[in-house]
Amino acid sequence: MNINVSDNPAQECADILAEAAEAGAHIALTGGSTPGDAYKLAAGADWSRAKLWWGDERCVPPDDELSNYRLAQESLLDRIAGDPPEIHRIHGERGPHAGADDYERDLRETLGERAPKLDVVLLGLGPDAHVASLFPGHATLDVSDRLAVGEEDAGLKPFVPRVTLTLPVLCDGRHIVFLVAGEGKAEAVERAFGDGEPSHDAPGSLVRPRDGRMTVLLDPPAASRLRL
Ligand code: 6PG
Repeated sequence: MNINVSDNPAQECADILAEAAEAGAHIALTGGSTPGDAYKLAAGADWSRAKLWWGDERCVPPDDELSNYRLAQESLLDRIAGDPPEIHRIHGERGPHAGADDYERDLRETLGERAPKLDVVLLGLGPDAHVASLFPGHATLDVSDRLAVGEEDAGLKPFVPRVTLTLPVLCDGRHIVFLVAGEGKAEAVERAFGDGEPSHDAPGSLVRPRDGRMTVLLDPPAASRLRL
């Protein structure tokens, strides 16, 4: 695990996304409020060969203001000057279970029936140390026979059902990238990436690369409780 603290982690994240996009990678984007700046900074790259996926989605239509797809559309897709990437969005509007079934089918049909691997898995970290829509103590953390699952009870705002990739798919990513900023995340960062044991109480601590690599991009406030 490579922990990288800098004053502008969004730029570092954008550089990783741009390089992957230009290489034609399969990239899973994240939602939340943190990644918008990174998406805007990466929009100048050539995205025409990239394939875009999402780590999780809220069960709302794609034009809803809570939609993770909409965030990417406004901060990235609408700003790309050249040809657009191939889009594999999560159809959250189908509901958590049908949405997860559809997404799993798309992953298998596109990336292969057995253990599909994403090239870049971008993730945020919640203040409760959740990742994607895998919340502390929830049964979804133990799912190992599905690529995507529905979550009816989000553990944190916004309280709408979700569709999320499962832990094995996140951990199978060839490059797992966390982007986390702000003092409000310092405790979660310590619980996810500090010296403690991995725990279901801190889903971020359960995301570790199986045979790929992992980069954690932090600003100084988010890193303030880590011993580096
Ligand atoms: C979501 C996310 C979620 C997010 C974290 C951090 O759909 O909510 O994908 O896992 O990355 O909650 O979100 P913030 O950037 O808003 O703090």
